Amino acid sequence: MQQVKLGLIGGGTVGNAVYRGLLRNGDLMASRLGVRLEVVRIAVRDPRKTRETDLPAHLLTGDWKSVVHNPDVHVVVELIGGITTAKEVILAALQHGKPVVTANKALLSAHGEELFAAARANNANLYYEASVAGGIPIIKVLRESLVGNRITCLRGIVNGTCNYILTRMKLEGIDFSEALTEAQRLGYAEADPSLDIDGHDAAHKTGILASLAHGFWVQPGEVHTEGIRQITRLDIQFAARLGYTLRLLGVVKTVTPARLAPPGSRRRPVGPGIQVAVYPALVPDSHVLASVNHAFNAISVQGDIVGETLFYGRGAGGDPTASSVLSDLADAALDLKHGSHDRVPAFVPHHGGGHVVPMDAVPCRYYVRLAVLDRPGVFAKIAAVLAQARIGISSIIQPEGHDGDSVPVILMIHDAPDAKVRQALARIARLSAVKAPPVMIRVEGAEGATETRAP
Ligand code: NAP
Ligand code: HSE
Repeated sequence: MQQVKLGLIGGGTVGNAVYRGLLRNGDLMASRLGVRLEVVRIAVRDPRKTRETDLPAHLLTGDWKSVVHNPDVHVVVELIGGITTAKEVILAALQHGKPVVTANKALLSAHGEELFAAARANNANLYYEASVAGGIPIIKVLRESLVGNRITCLRGIVNGTCNYILTRMKLEGIDFSEALTEAQRLGYAEADPSLDIDGHDAAHKTGILASLAHGFWVQPGEVHTEGIRQITRLDIQFAARLGYTLRLLGVVKTVTPARLAPPGSRRRPVGPGIQVAVYPALVPDSHVLASVNHAFNAISVQGDIVGETLFYGRGAGGDPTASSVLSDLADAALDLKHGSHDRVPAFVPHHGGGHVVPMDAVPCRYYVRLAVLDRPGVFAKIAAVLAQARIGISSIIQPEGHDGDSVPVILMIHDAPDAKVRQALARIARLSAVKAPPVMIRVEGAEGATETRAP
């Protein structure tokens, strides 16, 4: 049987799980593919380090170049992370005409176009199923399975660490920092966990999904990014009382932007395009994304022909990610076997391209929490500011309880452009009866929902 020999660069959480997966299911894959995959070399930072892994010591080296340049290595698997050495590894392998498999979303987000160009120029391919949503085969779905659809809306829980933290804060009432420590212990978090909790990891993944769905490469700076650091248990609890669950979402939607400049202004209006953003959002409990708990990921994709689809699975951790790496290895092996490196190229721009609509002009629904003095006339003043900005309120709720001399007031706001809501809230924050900066959280997935329930 034909053998495809693999050089792993990185033998950490994912590298070790890939090696273990091949030990376990290598025979099964060989019988399915007609090609046997064999790891012949593994580069790590420090081969002398004591490690509790399945990696045989004789395969380890501290010199990744010797692996990439080894003529016995047919496919290079980059699993070290980061955007410097990892980029060198991938470019070196592609320049040798070797296909590369990577799980590195940070690198693709930052340098995807350059890496795809290198793959094309060297007649090699770059496979990256494991870069988004761990074990969920969402890259294949967008590139192959839904190729006959225009994608109108994609909403995803794509960061396992944040979903784990938000789930444990809601279900068990534990603190943010305790939940983060546990996510790190379980191997979900990035080496630098601020990539997770500040939304950057989800932004990398959402940018990749947006690029594939819409056929132009979305630059990292075009992804509006908010994390979950500022989320409090109070808002999680109020959301629960209102029938919502808080989730960090990646959102890619075709939108017609709101006109922000006054009529007659010379500022050019932005035409229809796509919203690409990551933010914490309230999702109605009846929505399927609300029931995605712990480190699970889920992505709902709407196509103009297929309608709504949902993809669910483990989004972080060694084994789920290894499952996607194994899928890419199977594709790479079959492409080598059939000499078809460009059957599914790494990225193909669509004719006509597209553009990202600035977040300011994107309409959305909002949950707003204010801390106000409990005295007559306060609601009227707040409502007057919103009415002047032509922002509609769907409900006002004043839950029981005081915080010092102020009381919480929750406003559920109809679709309004982001910039308008921010401006109105800045005015509301200046009212003497408002005692703390307003909290503003978007609401997603409530299309067609009836009036919000009062607690
Ligand atoms: P990790 O546990 O930190 O492992 C990194 C590995 O790379 C270690 O074996 C390390 O060597 C090695 N390494 C670092 N610098 C190196 C260098 N210059 N030369 C050779 N080896 C080097 O990371 P991970 O969690 O497996 O993540 C790997 C990649 O998968 C990242 O891009 C990450 O974003 C992505 N990913 C991770 C997950 C997840 O759940 N963990 C899920 C999806 C995607 P030592 O062992 O000697 O330190
Ligand atoms: N840190 C990432 C997460 C790993 O928590 O989702 C999977 O990409």
